Amino acid sequence: MSMKILGIETSCDETSVAIVEDGRRIISDVVHTQSIHAKFGGVVPEVASRNHVVKIHEILDEALRGSGNTLEDMDAFAVTYGPGLVGALLIGLNTAKSLAYAVGRPLIPVNHVEAHLYANILHYGKPDPPFLGLIVSGGHTTLFLVKGHHDYAVIGRTRDDAVGEAYDKVSKMLGLGYPGGPVVDSMAASGDEDAVQFKIPVPRDSFYDFSFSGLKTAVKNYYASHPAAPREDICASFQKTAIKALTMRVEKYMREHGPLDIAVAGGVAANSRLRAEIAALAEKFGVASYIPPVRLCTDNAAMVASLGYYLFQKGDYLSPEESLKLNAFSSLPL
Ligand code: KG4
Ligand code: ZN
Repeated sequence: MSMKILGIETSCDETSVAIVEDGRRIISDVVHTQSIHAKFGGVVPEVASRNHVVKIHEILDEALRGSGNTLEDMDAFAVTYGPGLVGALLIGLNTAKSLAYAVGRPLIPVNHVEAHLYANILHYGKPDPPFLGLIVSGGHTTLFLVKGHHDYAVIGRTRDDAVGEAYDKVSKMLGLGYPGGPVVDSMAASGDEDAVQFKIPVPRDSFYDFSFSGLKTAVKNYYASHPAAPREDICASFQKTAIKALTMRVEKYMREHGPLDIAVAGGVAANSRLRAEIAALAEKFGVASYIPPVRLCTDNAAMVASLGYYLFQKGDYLSPEESLKLNAFSSLPL
């Protein structure tokens, strides 16, 4: 019997509701991005929460009615309960709890970072474990070994800024606006990547952990002392270093532990250089690489509903009554 799951995502600045059948078939996926944060140069948590409140019912309605479904057609609800901005998470969480309770269906709590990975399973039906997962977004930079569904071993994570955060901060300091990833990526295309030699930060005690705040500061210092330098060159040199910081860990892991398929996801997976370098690395090691289409790289509820399906199969869900006690968490282990 097929199963329709309604997913809700409100962990940051996207209000999203999706319906996914059997973890693979998107019936509807409505994503609203809050553009108001651009003028602040970053996401303002309180503003994000307020705008989720204003939008969530309209987005829910569009996802349901727009696809000719009713709440009663849903077999379960899946919602992101962390990590993210707590005030923002609570809007989606309370909406999901109310819906599950109203129609008497289970609620599946979903970890946002894990959900990003499932954008690949949703879109390609692949890879099959074991494989390497690389989640790169505005809030996370994590490389992990996926041993099975919902069975992970973290290989490395960032000690300070996430890679997307570094893109956003570099963009802001160069006066290129928010979000920074897409604009720095496109400026880099016409710059000289060898114009500035930035160092790849490696924490002293773990090669596999990431660190981006030193790189961000190096860009800041360079621009302060070379205000007339072409910003394209700075973007290209920064991008080369930031992406290398990701791929060199993947490469070293495969050298030491043997080749494995790799799945990349999260907002930074939209990056043109990362996409090309991961594909080249996979070819070099004779493995397959998976990166979702750009729309599924950034925050969306379809990935939440997809992971919800696999969690449901494992029995990881709450009854409507149990779900009322579920809280939101700013940080959550994988
Ligand atoms: O996954 P996401 O939508 O939200 C979080 O969970 O953080 O990721 C947003 C991040 C932002 O930092 C944005 O600048 C970055 O993804 N991003 C990119 C690109 N497109 C989006 N970073 C580098 N290159 C891109 N093309
Ligand atoms: Zn995300």
